[in-house]
Amino acid sequence: MLAKLDTIEQEALTSLGSVEDEESLERWRVKHLGRSSPLMGTFDQLGTLAKGERPTVGRRANEIKKVLETAYQENSETLRTTAIQRSLQAESLDVTLPGRTALHGRLHPTTQTMRTIYAIFADMGFQIYLSREVETDEYNFQLLNFPPHHPAREMQDTFFVESEGDRGDNPLLLRTHTSPGQIHAMREFAAANPENPPPVRIILPGMCYRYEQITARAEMQFNQVEGLAVGSDITFGDLKGTLSDFARRLFGQQVRSRFRASHFPFTEPSAEMDIECFVCGGSGCSVCKRSGWLEILGCGMVHPVVLQNGGYDPQRYTGFAFGMGPERSTMLRHRIDDIRYFFGNDLRFLEQF
Ligand code: DAH
Repeated sequence: MLAKLDTIEQEALTSLGSVEDEESLERWRVKHLGRSSPLMGTFDQLGTLAKGERPTVGRRANEIKKVLETAYQENSETLRTTAIQRSLQAESLDVTLPGRTALHGRLHPTTQTMRTIYAIFADMGFQIYLSREVETDEYNFQLLNFPPHHPAREMQDTFFVESEGDRGDNPLLLRTHTSPGQIHAMREFAAANPENPPPVRIILPGMCYRYEQITARAEMQFNQVEGLAVGSDITFGDLKGTLSDFARRLFGQQVRSRFRASHFPFTEPSAEMDIECFVCGGSGCSVCKRSGWLEILGCGMVHPVVLQNGGYDPQRYTGFAFGMGPERSTMLRHRIDDIRYFFGNDLRFLEQF
């Protein structure tokens, strides 16, 4: 019997060598320490042994049971630690890898300039008024004092939305400037009190379209910010004061400006405003084309016909208007030499602002 027990122990310990994972260890435990294992069988058979043999066999069987249980415990520990090590290895992180850059959005440079322009005019009491991009010939030209065959229309080669036949001499078109918003705004303000229309002080920002050859200086799509002030005693002095203050706030307090006579059908008199070239300080460089001055906007006193078309009696009211291109101002502020960058969507350009 003792010899049989030795074999049981030997076999159990040898087969432990081929245990590789927790599953096979559990099978080993059932086989060698479980209820129906040969070892447990010997305890059941103790009663059949001769009295003198029982204590020695019992003691030996217990001893083997302890040995196998200890071996089981140790194996189970080792298996658990190697499993942890293996999973640590498999899931290891390389903490020396550089992190991924978080991309964050930003405002388009034109939007930034436009918001600065809004803030400057808001400080001076101007409200923002939005007007449509698809216009009629009447609003875009006729009510602004461009007669049907006026040569100034040549300046604004137009995208028509429908052929001229469809609506007679009033075809739909993409607005070539933000000035038609002046008429919409004045009519809306005047409708509130036609006998005594209220004063107007607004800016009208938005996209304009012209059928142009695209070059470094001209796009067929661009923004404008229009301005309009109408009231009872508005003079050319108000126009000059407002716009030269605006230029100082946008381009720097030291910036000087000047007004040159010009012509627009919807203003009389009309002017263009230049600022002193801030690149060369007025001495002449390639940015100002040796003139020392940079043109930044068109302006003038609202033409009596336009006031009338807006519902404001030109005998009682006067006003000034202006229009500027925020892309152009942005080009000047940041010395950008090609307007095509604004719609090119090249991140290398956009990320600089
Ligand atoms: N509408 C003109 C243009 O697109 C700009 C302009 C000039 C607007 C004079 C005005 C103004 O309101 O008074 O070239």
